Amino acid sequence: MTLDIDFVRHQYPVFQNPETAQWAFFENAGGSYVPRQVIERLNYFFKYTKVQPYGLFDSSVAAGEAMETAYRCVAELLNTDPDQLTFGPSTTLNFYVLAQAFRPALRPGDEIVVTNQDHEANIGCWRRLSEFGVVIKEWQIDPQSGELDIEDLKNLIGIRTRLVCFTLCSNIVGTMNDVSAINAIVHDAGALSIADGVSFAPHQLADVDRLGVDLYLFSTYKTFGTHIGVMWGKKEVLAKLESQGHYFNSDKPHYRLNPAGPLHAEIAALAGIGEYFDTLYEKHFTDVSLNRHQRGTKIYDLFAGHEARLANQLLNALQEMPGVRIIGQPQAAVGRRAATIAFIPREKKPSEIVKRLAENLIAVRNGHFYARRCVEALGLEDPDEGVIRVSLVHYNTEDEVKRLIEGLWGLC
Ligand SMILES: Cc1ncc(COP(=O)(O)O)c(C=O)c1O
Repeated sequence: MTLDIDFVRHQYPVFQNPETAQWAFFENAGGSYVPRQVIERLNYFFKYTKVQPYGLFDSSVAAGEAMETAYRCVAELLNTDPDQLTFGPSTTLNFYVLAQAFRPALRPGDEIVVTNQDHEANIGCWRRLSEFGVVIKEWQIDPQSGELDIEDLKNLIGIRTRLVCFTLCSNIVGTMNDVSAINAIVHDAGALSIADGVSFAPHQLADVDRLGVDLYLFSTYKTFGTHIGVMWGKKEVLAKLESQGHYFNSDKPHYRLNPAGPLHAEIAALAGIGEYFDTLYEKHFTDVSLNRHQRGTKIYDLFAGHEARLANQLLNALQEMPGVRIIGQPQAAVGRRAATIAFIPREKKPSEIVKRLAENLIAVRNGHFYARRCVEALGLEDPDEGVIRVSLVHYNTEDEVKRLIEGLWGLC
Protein backbone atom coordinates (compact mmCIF):
# COMPACT_ATOMS: atom_id res chain seq x y z
CA MET A 1 0.00 0.00 0.00
CA THR A 2 1.44 3.36 -1.00
CA LEU A 3 0.13 6.86 -0.57
CA ASP A 4 -2.05 8.13 -3.41
CA ILE A 5 -0.17 11.37 -3.83
CA ASP A 6 -2.52 12.84 -6.45
CA PHE A 7 -5.46 12.32 -4.12
CA VAL A 8 -3.50 13.88 -1.25
CA ARG A 9 -2.59 16.96 -3.27
CA HIS A 10 -6.16 17.29 -4.45
CA GLN A 11 -7.10 18.15 -0.85
CA TYR A 12 -4.89 21.27 -0.91
CA PRO A 13 -6.15 24.48 -2.57
CA VAL A 14 -2.54 25.61 -2.89
CA PHE A 15 -1.90 22.81 -5.39
CA GLN A 16 -5.06 23.65 -7.36
CA ASN A 17 -4.09 27.27 -7.92
CA PRO A 18 -1.93 27.48 -11.10
CA GLU A 19 0.42 30.08 -9.62
CA THR A 20 1.14 28.55 -6.25
CA ALA A 21 1.11 25.02 -7.65
CA GLN A 22 4.25 25.82 -9.64
CA TRP A 23 6.33 26.02 -6.50
CA ALA A 24 8.23 23.05 -5.15
CA PHE A 25 7.68 23.81 -1.49
CA PHE A 26 10.24 22.46 0.98
CA GLU A 27 9.81 24.81 3.93
CA ASN A 28 7.32 22.59 5.69
CA ALA A 29 9.20 22.58 8.99
CA GLY A 30 8.64 26.34 9.00
CA GLY A 31 4.90 25.93 8.45
CA SER A 32 2.97 23.42 6.38
CA TYR A 33 0.31 23.94 3.76
CA VAL A 34 -3.32 23.54 4.85
CA PRO A 35 -5.91 21.16 3.39
CA ARG A 36 -9.39 22.32 2.42
CA GLN A 37 -10.99 20.62 5.44
CA VAL A 38 -9.19 23.00 7.81
CA ILE A 39 -9.78 26.05 5.63
CA GLU A 40 -13.49 25.28 5.33
CA ARG A 41 -13.87 25.06 9.10
CA LEU A 42 -11.97 28.30 9.59
CA ASN A 43 -14.11 30.02 6.97
CA TYR A 44 -17.30 28.67 8.45
CA PHE A 45 -16.35 29.92 11.90
CA PHE A 46 -15.55 33.40 10.62
CA LYS A 47 -18.65 33.56 8.44
CA TYR A 48 -21.29 32.27 10.83
CA THR A 49 -20.07 31.86 14.40
CA LYS A 50 -17.48 34.58 14.92
CA VAL A 51 -18.77 35.56 18.34
CA GLN A 52 -17.67 35.00 21.92
CA PRO A 53 -18.23 31.22 22.36
CA TYR A 54 -19.97 29.29 25.13
CA GLY A 55 -22.86 31.76 25.50
CA LEU A 56 -26.57 30.93 25.40
CA PHE A 57 -27.51 32.35 21.98
CA ASP A 58 -27.34 30.13 18.91
CA SER A 59 -24.18 31.36 17.20
CA SER A 60 -22.31 31.39 20.50
CA VAL A 61 -23.43 27.87 21.35
CA ALA A 62 -22.31 26.75 17.87
CA ALA A 63 -18.93 28.46 18.30
CA GLY A 64 -18.35 26.70 21.61
CA GLU A 65 -19.40 23.37 20.13
CA ALA A 66 -17.02 23.83 17.21
CA MET A 67 -14.17 24.42 19.67
CA GLU A 68 -15.11 21.43 21.81
CA THR A 69 -15.23 19.27 18.67
CA ALA A 70 -11.65 20.34 17.94
CA TYR A 71 -10.45 19.58 21.49
CA ARG A 72 -12.01 16.12 21.21
CA CYS A 73 -10.57 15.55 17.75
CA VAL A 74 -6.98 16.41 18.73
CA ALA A 75 -7.35 14.37 21.93
CA GLU A 76 -8.58 11.38 19.94
CA LEU A 77 -5.70 11.70 17.49
CA LEU A 78 -3.24 11.65 20.40
CA ASN A 79 -5.23 8.92 22.17
CA THR A 80 -5.79 11.00 25.26
CA ASP A 81 -8.30 12.98 27.27
CA PRO A 82 -9.17 16.55 26.10
CA ASP A 83 -8.66 17.77 29.67
CA GLN A 84 -4.96 17.00 29.34
CA LEU A 85 -4.59 19.48 26.48
CA THR A 86 -3.82 23.19 26.46
CA PHE A 87 -4.21 25.04 23.15
CA GLY A 88 -2.03 28.15 23.30
CA PRO A 89 -0.95 30.62 20.63
CA SER A 90 2.36 28.82 19.96
CA THR A 91 4.72 26.23 21.35
CA THR A 92 7.18 28.94 22.33
CA LEU A 93 4.55 30.57 24.52
CA ASN A 94 3.38 27.23 25.91
CA PHE A 95 6.96 26.43 26.96
CA TYR A 96 7.32 29.85 28.53
CA VAL A 97 4.13 29.45 30.54
CA LEU A 98 5.11 25.90 31.48
CA ALA A 99 8.45 27.07 32.87
CA GLN A 100 6.64 29.67 34.97
CA ALA A 101 4.20 27.02 36.18
CA PHE A 102 7.09 24.81 37.34
CA ARG A 103 8.94 27.66 39.07
CA PRO A 104 7.27 27.56 42.50
CA ALA A 105 8.08 23.85 42.82
CA LEU A 106 11.80 24.35 42.14
CA ARG A 107 14.36 25.12 44.86
CA PRO A 108 17.78 26.75 44.56
CA GLY A 109 20.23 24.01 43.61
CA ASP A 110 17.63 21.96 41.73
CA GLU A 111 18.86 21.05 38.28
CA ILE A 112 17.33 21.20 34.81
CA VAL A 113 18.97 19.55 31.82
CA VAL A 114 18.53 21.29 28.48
CA THR A 115 20.21 20.45 25.17
CA ASN A 116 22.00 22.58 22.64
CA GLN A 117 20.18 20.67 19.89
CA ASP A 118 16.74 22.12 20.58
CA HIS A 119 14.88 25.07 19.15
CA GLU A 120 15.35 27.94 21.61
CA ALA A 121 11.70 27.61 22.65
CA ASN A 122 12.66 24.60 24.80
CA ILE A 123 15.91 26.11 26.11
CA GLY A 124 15.61 29.82 26.90
CA CYS A 125 12.57 29.59 29.18
CA TRP A 126 14.34 26.97 31.33
CA ARG A 127 17.65 28.84 31.39
CA ARG A 128 15.83 31.90 32.74
CA LEU A 129 15.01 29.92 35.87
CA SER A 130 18.68 30.18 36.85
CA GLU A 131 17.68 33.64 38.15
CA PHE A 132 15.94 31.74 40.95
CA GLY A 133 18.96 29.57 41.76
CA VAL A 134 18.10 26.65 39.49
CA VAL A 135 21.22 25.05 38.01
CA ILE A 136 21.16 24.48 34.25
CA LYS A 137 23.13 21.61 32.73
CA GLU A 138 23.61 21.33 28.99
CA TRP A 139 23.41 18.04 27.11
CA GLN A 140 25.64 18.79 24.13
CA ILE A 141 25.56 17.46 20.59
CA ASP A 142 28.49 15.90 18.82
CA PRO A 143 29.84 18.84 16.78
CA GLN A 144 30.30 16.71 13.68
CA SER A 145 27.09 14.66 13.54
CA GLY A 146 24.85 17.04 15.46
CA GLU A 147 23.51 14.08 17.43
CA LEU A 148 23.04 13.58 21.17
CA ASP A 149 24.76 10.67 22.91
CA ILE A 150 22.63 8.96 25.54
CA GLU A 151 25.75 8.18 27.60
CA ASP A 152 26.32 11.90 28.05
CA LEU A 153 22.84 12.26 29.53
CA LYS A 154 23.63 9.60 32.12
CA ASN A 155 26.60 11.66 33.24
CA LEU A 156 24.53 14.84 33.56
CA ILE A 157 21.74 13.40 35.66
CA GLY A 158 22.00 13.54 39.43
CA ILE A 159 19.86 13.48 42.56
CA ARG A 160 18.97 17.17 42.13
CA THR A 161 17.77 16.76 38.52
CA ARG A 162 14.13 17.75 38.30
CA LEU A 163 13.50 18.20 34.58
CA VAL A 164 15.10 17.03 31.34
CA CYS A 165 14.01 19.14 28.38
CA PHE A 166 14.82 17.73 24.96
CA THR A 167 13.54 17.47 21.43
CA LEU A 168 12.04 14.33 19.93
CA CYS A 169 13.50 15.40 16.60
CA SER A 170 15.71 18.42 15.97
CA ASN A 171 14.50 20.87 13.34
CA ILE A 172 18.07 20.93 11.95
CA VAL A 173 19.60 17.49 12.51
CA GLY A 174 16.49 15.43 11.74
CA THR A 175 17.46 12.45 13.92
CA MET A 176 14.62 11.00 15.96
CA ASN A 177 16.03 10.92 19.47
CA ASP A 178 15.61 7.67 21.39
CA VAL A 179 12.73 8.73 23.61
CA SER A 180 12.41 5.38 25.42
CA ALA A 181 16.07 5.40 26.42
CA ILE A 182 15.82 9.03 27.54
CA ASN A 183 12.66 8.40 29.55
CA ALA A 184 14.22 5.39 31.27
CA ILE A 185 17.18 7.44 32.47
CA VAL A 186 15.10 10.47 33.44
CA HIS A 187 12.43 8.53 35.32
CA ASP A 188 15.01 6.34 37.07
CA ALA A 189 16.39 9.54 38.52
CA GLY A 190 12.92 10.67 39.64
CA ALA A 191 12.93 13.57 37.17
CA LEU A 192 10.38 14.54 34.51
CA SER A 193 10.88 14.43 30.74
CA ILE A 194 9.65 17.39 28.70
CA ALA A 195 9.59 16.79 24.97
CA ASP A 196 9.46 19.25 22.11
CA GLY A 197 7.55 17.43 19.37
CA VAL A 198 7.28 20.29 16.88
CA SER A 199 9.59 18.67 14.29
CA PHE A 200 8.38 15.20 15.16
CA ALA A 201 4.61 15.62 14.91
CA PRO A 202 4.43 16.18 11.11
CA HIS A 203 6.10 12.79 10.65
CA GLN A 204 4.81 10.59 13.47
CA LEU A 205 1.48 10.52 15.24
CA ALA A 206 2.12 10.23 18.96
CA ASP A 207 0.10 8.06 21.28
CA VAL A 208 1.06 10.32 24.15
CA ASP A 209 0.77 7.69 26.88
CA ARG A 210 2.95 5.26 24.95
CA LEU A 211 5.46 8.00 24.18
CA GLY A 212 6.14 7.94 27.91
CA VAL A 213 7.17 11.56 28.38
CA ASP A 214 5.61 13.77 31.04
CA LEU A 215 4.87 16.73 28.79
CA TYR A 216 4.64 16.80 25.01
CA LEU A 217 4.32 19.97 22.93
CA PHE A 218 3.86 20.60 19.22
CA SER A 219 2.47 23.20 16.83
CA THR A 220 -0.50 22.54 14.58
CA TYR A 221 0.57 25.04 11.94
CA LYS A 222 3.31 22.52 11.11
CA THR A 223 0.85 19.63 11.09
CA PHE A 224 -1.49 20.92 8.37
CA GLY A 225 -3.62 23.07 10.69
CA THR A 226 -3.99 26.59 12.00
CA HIS A 227 -1.48 28.47 14.15
CA ILE A 228 -1.92 26.83 17.55
CA GLY A 229 0.52 25.36 20.07
CA VAL A 230 -0.69 22.13 21.67
CA MET A 231 0.60 21.11 25.09
CA TRP A 232 -0.21 17.72 26.57
CA GLY A 233 0.71 16.60 30.07
CA LYS A 234 0.26 13.58 32.30
CA LYS A 235 -2.67 14.21 34.64
CA GLU A 236 -0.61 13.91 37.82
CA VAL A 237 2.05 16.28 36.46
CA LEU A 238 -0.47 18.91 35.31
CA ALA A 239 -2.16 18.77 38.71
CA LYS A 240 1.07 19.83 40.44
CA LEU A 241 1.72 22.84 38.19
CA GLU A 242 0.75 26.28 39.44
CA SER A 243 -2.08 27.78 37.41
CA GLN A 244 -0.98 30.68 35.20
CA GLY A 245 -4.51 31.76 34.27
CA HIS A 246 -6.90 34.13 36.02
CA TYR A 247 -7.53 33.04 39.61
CA PHE A 248 -11.13 32.11 38.85
CA ASN A 249 -9.99 29.85 35.98
CA SER A 250 -7.42 27.89 37.93
CA ASP A 251 -9.52 24.71 37.94
CA LYS A 252 -10.38 24.83 34.23
CA PRO A 253 -8.10 22.44 32.34
CA HIS A 254 -7.98 24.41 29.08
CA TYR A 255 -7.39 27.75 30.79
CA ARG A 256 -5.04 27.20 33.73
CA LEU A 257 -1.90 27.08 31.57
CA ASN A 258 -3.13 29.51 28.94
CA PRO A 259 -3.08 33.09 30.23
CA ALA A 260 -3.50 34.29 26.62
CA GLY A 261 -6.95 32.69 26.41
CA PRO A 262 -8.06 30.44 23.54
CA LEU A 263 -7.92 31.52 19.88
CA HIS A 264 -11.48 30.60 19.01
CA ALA A 265 -11.54 30.21 15.23
CA GLU A 266 -8.04 28.75 14.99
CA ILE A 267 -8.94 26.13 17.57
CA ALA A 268 -12.27 25.29 15.93
CA ALA A 269 -10.53 24.74 12.59
CA LEU A 270 -8.27 22.06 14.06
CA ALA A 271 -11.08 19.53 13.73
CA GLY A 272 -10.35 19.83 10.00
CA ILE A 273 -7.05 17.99 10.53
CA GLY A 274 -8.95 14.95 11.76
CA GLU A 275 -11.38 15.28 8.88
CA TYR A 276 -8.46 15.47 6.42
CA PHE A 277 -6.87 12.31 7.84
CA ASP A 278 -10.25 10.58 7.61
CA THR A 279 -10.61 11.60 3.97
CA LEU A 280 -7.22 10.00 3.31
CA TYR A 281 -8.10 6.97 5.42
CA GLU A 282 -11.31 6.31 3.51
CA LYS A 283 -9.39 6.50 0.24
CA HIS A 284 -6.75 3.97 1.34
CA PHE A 285 -8.41 1.64 3.88
CA THR A 286 -11.75 -0.06 4.49
CA ASP A 287 -11.74 -1.16 8.14
CA VAL A 288 -14.40 0.97 9.83
CA SER A 289 -13.82 -0.44 13.30
CA LEU A 290 -10.71 1.58 14.09
CA ASN A 291 -10.73 4.63 16.35
CA ARG A 292 -9.38 8.01 15.27
CA HIS A 293 -5.90 7.41 16.63
CA GLN A 294 -5.65 4.02 14.93
CA ARG A 295 -6.88 5.45 11.63
CA GLY A 296 -4.42 8.31 11.96
CA THR A 297 -1.58 5.90 12.67
CA LYS A 298 -2.31 3.99 9.48
CA ILE A 299 -2.24 7.21 7.50
CA TYR A 300 0.99 8.32 9.17
CA ASP A 301 2.56 4.96 8.32
CA LEU A 302 1.85 5.72 4.66
CA PHE A 303 3.29 9.23 5.13
CA ALA A 304 6.44 7.80 6.71
CA GLY A 305 7.13 5.35 3.88
CA HIS A 306 6.63 8.06 1.26
CA GLU A 307 8.76 10.60 3.13
CA ALA A 308 11.60 8.11 3.67
CA ARG A 309 11.71 7.41 -0.08
CA LEU A 310 11.87 11.13 -0.91
CA ALA A 311 14.40 11.82 1.83
CA ASN A 312 16.71 9.11 0.51
CA GLN A 313 16.30 10.39 -3.04
CA LEU A 314 17.66 13.73 -1.82
CA LEU A 315 20.25 12.34 0.60
CA ASN A 316 21.71 10.04 -2.06
CA ALA A 317 22.11 12.98 -4.40
CA LEU A 318 23.60 15.24 -1.72
CA GLN A 319 26.17 12.57 -0.91
CA GLU A 320 27.40 12.75 -4.47
CA MET A 321 27.88 16.52 -4.32
CA PRO A 322 31.43 17.16 -3.19
CA GLY A 323 30.66 20.71 -2.11
CA VAL A 324 28.13 19.70 0.52
CA ARG A 325 28.29 18.69 4.21
CA ILE A 326 25.13 16.84 5.26
CA ILE A 327 24.02 17.33 8.86
CA GLY A 328 22.78 14.22 10.65
CA GLN A 329 22.35 10.71 9.32
CA PRO A 330 23.19 10.09 5.66
CA GLN A 331 20.17 7.82 5.13
CA ALA A 332 16.55 8.12 6.20
CA ALA A 333 14.80 5.24 7.92
CA VAL A 334 11.31 5.29 9.35
CA GLY A 335 11.52 6.20 13.03
CA ARG A 336 15.22 7.08 12.86
CA ARG A 337 15.49 10.15 10.66
CA ALA A 338 12.77 12.58 9.68
CA ALA A 339 12.69 14.03 6.18
CA THR A 340 14.14 17.27 7.54
CA ILE A 341 17.46 17.57 5.78
CA ALA A 342 19.97 20.28 6.53
CA PHE A 343 23.26 20.71 4.69
CA ILE A 344 26.04 23.23 4.36
CA PRO A 345 27.62 24.22 1.06
CA ARG A 346 31.39 24.31 1.52
CA GLU A 347 32.18 26.99 -1.03
CA LYS A 348 29.12 29.20 -1.40
CA LYS A 349 26.96 31.24 0.93
CA PRO A 350 23.72 29.36 1.80
CA SER A 351 21.63 32.47 1.11
CA GLU A 352 23.04 32.71 -2.45
CA ILE A 353 21.94 29.16 -3.18
CA VAL A 354 18.53 29.66 -1.61
CA LYS A 355 17.99 32.78 -3.69
CA ARG A 356 18.92 31.04 -6.91
CA LEU A 357 16.58 28.14 -6.09
CA ALA A 358 13.75 30.60 -5.47
CA GLU A 359 14.30 32.03 -8.96
CA ASN A 360 13.43 28.52 -10.18
CA LEU A 361 10.33 28.33 -8.00
CA ILE A 362 11.92 26.10 -5.39
CA ALA A 363 11.16 27.20 -1.82
CA VAL A 364 13.78 26.41 0.82
CA ARG A 365 15.38 28.59 3.49
CA ASN A 366 18.70 28.99 5.21
CA GLY A 367 19.59 30.13 8.70
CA HIS A 368 19.60 28.73 12.22
CA PHE A 369 15.82 28.31 12.44
CA TYR A 370 15.97 29.38 16.12
CA ALA A 371 18.13 26.37 16.90
CA ARG A 372 21.01 28.80 17.07
CA ARG A 373 22.95 26.93 19.74
CA CYS A 374 22.83 23.82 17.55
CA VAL A 375 24.10 25.65 14.49
CA GLU A 376 26.88 27.28 16.55
CA ALA A 377 27.87 23.92 18.05
CA LEU A 378 28.09 22.48 14.53
CA GLY A 379 30.90 24.95 13.99
CA LEU A 380 29.22 27.31 11.55
CA GLU A 381 30.96 30.65 11.50
CA ASP A 382 27.90 32.65 10.54
CA PRO A 383 24.81 31.25 12.29
CA ASP A 384 22.54 33.68 10.46
CA GLU A 385 23.65 32.19 7.14
CA GLY A 386 23.42 28.84 8.92
CA VAL A 387 22.40 25.73 7.07
CA ILE A 388 20.17 25.17 4.06
CA ARG A 389 17.16 23.21 5.26
CA VAL A 390 14.93 21.09 3.06
CA SER A 391 11.89 19.88 4.89
CA LEU A 392 9.73 17.29 3.15
CA VAL A 393 6.29 16.12 4.19
CA HIS A 394 3.85 13.63 2.76
CA TYR A 395 2.47 15.89 0.02
CA ASN A 396 5.85 16.44 -1.61
CA THR A 397 6.58 14.48 -4.76
CA GLU A 398 9.51 12.71 -6.41
CA ASP A 399 9.34 15.22 -9.25
CA GLU A 400 9.71 18.12 -6.86
CA VAL A 401 12.74 16.50 -5.26
CA LYS A 402 14.17 15.86 -8.73
CA ARG A 403 13.79 19.55 -9.56
CA LEU A 404 15.57 20.47 -6.34
CA ILE A 405 18.42 18.05 -7.03
CA GLU A 406 18.85 19.42 -10.57
CA GLY A 407 18.88 22.93 -9.17
CA LEU A 408 21.46 22.05 -6.54
CA TRP A 409 23.80 20.32 -9.01
CA GLY A 410 24.32 23.60 -10.75
CA LEU A 411 24.98 25.42 -7.50
CA CYS A 412 26.88 23.19 -5.04
C1 LIG B 1 11.59 22.14 16.79
C2 LIG B 1 10.81 23.36 17.09
N1 LIG B 1 10.44 23.60 18.35
C3 LIG B 1 9.71 24.68 18.69
C4 LIG B 1 9.31 25.59 17.73
C5 LIG B 1 8.51 26.77 18.14
O1 LIG B 1 7.19 26.60 17.75
P1 LIG B 1 6.20 27.85 17.66
O2 LIG B 1 6.52 28.57 16.41
O3 LIG B 1 4.84 27.25 17.69
O4 LIG B 1 6.47 28.68 18.85
C6 LIG B 1 9.68 25.38 16.41
C7 LIG B 1 9.29 26.36 15.37
O5 LIG B 1 9.82 26.43 14.31
C8 LIG B 1 10.44 24.25 16.08
O6 LIG B 1 10.82 23.99 14.83
